[in-house]
Amino acid sequence: MIAFEPLSTDERVRIIDLHPEVGDLRAEALDGLRQAEKVLPCKFFYDALGARLFEAITELPEYYPTRTELGIMSGFVHEMAESIGSHATLVEFGSGVGLKTQKLLDALVEPAGCVLIDISRGALEGSALQLADRYEMMEVVAVCADYTQPLRLPRPRRPSARTVAFFPGSTIGNFTHDEAVQFLERVAELVGQGGGLLVGIDRRKDPTIIEQAYNDSLGVTAAFNLNILRRLNETGADFDLTAFHHRAPYLADEGRIEMHLVSRVDQTVQIGEDSVGFTAGEHIVTEHSHKYDLDQFREMARAAGFRLARHWSDERDWFSVCFLEVSPS
Ligand code: AVJ
Repeated sequence: MIAFEPLSTDERVRIIDLHPEVGDLRAEALDGLRQAEKVLPCKFFYDALGARLFEAITELPEYYPTRTELGIMSGFVHEMAESIGSHATLVEFGSGVGLKTQKLLDALVEPAGCVLIDISRGALEGSALQLADRYEMMEVVAVCADYTQPLRLPRPRRPSARTVAFFPGSTIGNFTHDEAVQFLERVAELVGQGGGLLVGIDRRKDPTIIEQAYNDSLGVTAAFNLNILRRLNETGADFDLTAFHHRAPYLADEGRIEMHLVSRVDQTVQIGEDSVGFTAGEHIVTEHSHKYDLDQFREMARAAGFRLARHWSDERDWFSVCFLEVSPS
C-alpha cells in the first residue's frame, strides 16, 4: 500500500502579517480628534489587552449578542452547513478566538480551506494553530490585517467548490450604513459568482436591553472603551484616563448604540507634537453599533449584489444569522 501522510501543522498553516497599524495609529487618531465631533476608529480597541477585555465582555450577563449568536449557531449549524455545501473555502473576518468558526467547521462537509483575517495578531495566531490542529485535512491561512482597508488576500492553494465569507458577532454594525454596503460589495467581489456570506446581525429591540449590554454593572465595557486612550498613550499621547468617563447612549432614530468617552474637565491633551483641547462634557465617539431590522438588512444586501437566501434567529428575535448569496448578474 502507498498512502500520503497528512501534512504536518506547519505545512498547512500560513501566517501572514500585513502590519495593519505601522505608523498610522497616531496620525489616524489625530485626524479623528480634529473633527467637529471627535471620533476614534473602533478598530483601535483591539490590541492584546483590548481583545481580552472584549472576550470578558462576551461573558457579561448583560451582553447578550455573543451568547445569543452562539445559541443560534448551535441550533441551526447543520442547516447553515447545508446552505454552504461541501468542499468550501471559508473566509472569516475578525475571527478573534474563533469559537464560532469551530462550530461551523465542525458541521461543514470536508472544508477545503479557511482564511482568517484579524487585526489582533495574538488572537489570530492562536486560533489559526488551533484550527490546523483540529482539522487535519484543511489548509489554514491567517492574515493579520485591517479589513476596513483595501486588502489583497493570499489565494488558498487548494481548489474548492465555492468561497463563503463568515462575518459573525454583528461586527458589520460597527460600520455606518454606507460603509456597510460598501463592505458587502467588496465581499461579494471577493467570493465571486456562486459565493456566499454568512453574517450575524444584532436586531432592533427594547432600547433598555441594548443600553444595558453596553453599560454593564461591572464596568468592563468602560475599561474596554478607555483602553483606546491607554493605547494612544503608548504611541506618545498623555491622556489622563481618570479625566474621561464611559457612556453609551442608544439613538433610536439611527438604530444604533454609540460608545462615548466624555471629558470630565476642560483639558488639553498632548499627542506627540500636537495637542487637542477638550471642554468639560465634550465627548469622543469611539464606536457605532447598529441594530437592524430584517427588511432593512435585506435591502442593504440587495444594494451590494447579494440576495438574502436564508436566516436563522433566536426565539426572541434579538439576533439573526443571515446567509447571503451573490445574485446572478
Ligand atoms: C461585537 C465588535 C460588534 O458592537 O457589540 C462590545 C463590540 N463594543 N461592547 C459590538 C463591543 C462594546 C461589538 N462587536
